Amino acid sequence: MKKKQFRILILLLLPLFFGCSSNKNVKTADSESNYTGKYRPQFHFSPQKGWMNDPNGMVYYQGEYHLFYQYYPDSTVWGPMHWGHAISKDLVHWENLPIALYPDSLGLIFSGSAVVDWKNTTGFGSAENPPLVAIFTYHNMDREKSGRVDVENQGIAYSIDKGRTWTKYEKNPVLLNPGSRDFRDPHVFWHEGTQKWNLILSAHDKVKIYSSGNLKDWQPESEFGSDAGAHGGVWECPDLFPLKVNGGDQTKWVMIVNMNPGGPNGGSGTQYFVGGYDGHEFTAASKETSWLDYGRDNYAGVCWSDVPKEDGRRLFLGWMSNWNYANVVPTDVWRSAMTIPRELKLEEANGKYQVASVPVSELNQLQDQASKITFAEEQISGEKKLDTKDINLNQCELALNLEIGESAADSLGLILENSLGEWVKIGYSGKSKQFFIDRTKSGNMSFSDRFTGIDYAPYRIGNQVQLHLYIDAASVELFVDEGKLVMTDLFFSSENFNALKIFSSGGSVLLQKVEIVRLKRIW
Ligand code: FRU
Repeated sequence: MKKKQFRILILLLLPLFFGCSSNKNVKTADSESNYTGKYRPQFHFSPQKGWMNDPNGMVYYQGEYHLFYQYYPDSTVWGPMHWGHAISKDLVHWENLPIALYPDSLGLIFSGSAVVDWKNTTGFGSAENPPLVAIFTYHNMDREKSGRVDVENQGIAYSIDKGRTWTKYEKNPVLLNPGSRDFRDPHVFWHEGTQKWNLILSAHDKVKIYSSGNLKDWQPESEFGSDAGAHGGVWECPDLFPLKVNGGDQTKWVMIVNMNPGGPNGGSGTQYFVGGYDGHEFTAASKETSWLDYGRDNYAGVCWSDVPKEDGRRLFLGWMSNWNYANVVPTDVWRSAMTIPRELKLEEANGKYQVASVPVSELNQLQDQASKITFAEEQISGEKKLDTKDINLNQCELALNLEIGESAADSLGLILENSLGEWVKIGYSGKSKQFFIDRTKSGNMSFSDRFTGIDYAPYRIGNQVQLHLYIDAASVELFVDEGKLVMTDLFFSSENFNALKIFSSGGSVLLQKVEIVRLKRIW
């Protein structure tokens, strides 16, 4: 081998010895590069290394779901934001791609969206090869330090090679700050009725809507929110889209508004409104807040753009953490995962609208059918441990149907426990008419005094209730009655759970169906 070739070989091999990271401050254990370290989710998306927060730029194009995300590659705490990038053909298995957008002289790259510019309104591509256009917030640290208000402005970038490489528009920014310190997270969509692009973004305690013919020149349309919804924190990451009512012919518009702090159980939370929208203005059917998820660990979630009409689903993904403690959760090498992808459905009953979330059906391919355990019907009062054989309860899907009967129990549900006496309790209190997830004894909580506690969600159960859970390393996602109620919560047990108990106190409950199945890993 020639000297030069040898030098190149050594350069190529170096990362293998020093943890394949070009980043100075990020430790990369060998096990982590293969997604097998402690607390590493096995079927949720998480970055191979470094810090991640909000999902960004989610768009479907030519058979690929793109997922961009707020990313800081050089550390496991929040820092100068880039857009990380991954793609999936099935919403389940992900391929990591190189960073799509780097900070530049205009600022850091904060959250935003992406669309397929089918009609090439930007002129960045052609009719035959429409460009993908990303719309994001430039957050300027120099302006922030000097106390200026116009810290956040919106920029665009495009790709004409299926999202593999991105070019920033040379005339950025395209939407200037009108005088609001918080002016960020643009979400763009094509409005059929007016044949215009619409953009919704958050402006401190409300959202603003703009329109454009070319994604470059934006006209203000309207505002929403000063007199509606929850205002315990700053409004962030909005989305606005139509959904069919009860799957029928009637359509209503749903506006998602993330907010931090002030969520239903503290810290970050996602509220939504249902109403009408004409391409100019949103009118809410009710100004009261509804919460998309009552757990503490689903934030900044928005939906995929350009999902084909034949598919017709509105697909949602959230960041599975909370700003109350996101920077200090006990993971090494990487920090934060996304939720499982969910389909949003709009339900109407007695004039009240509700958005339900259900796990996407693509997840079913992960079920290891041979591992499935079912149990015979049984009346439970007190506590009953189920024989879950050797299923890893930290990587499974669980479906339970319970019949409450006449003697409504005070409290019923399930407990996941390990041999160290750590547990997570998930259930319903008949007295307070609330679902709850109790993680007060769930293991490691020393990293933040804001992590422990019980999350509550108001709910009226009927005679029967269905619980559907996804458990993955350090997270549980609970879907009640086809997603009418959702709770997403993290926990950091010192070792895996090895016991599943069903409990019913102050009355009995009929355990109609229990199904437990191991889920295969996606990496
Ligand atoms: C939400 C958020 C966004 C912002 C981004 C910065 O979690 O605060 O409003 O664009 O994170 O990383």
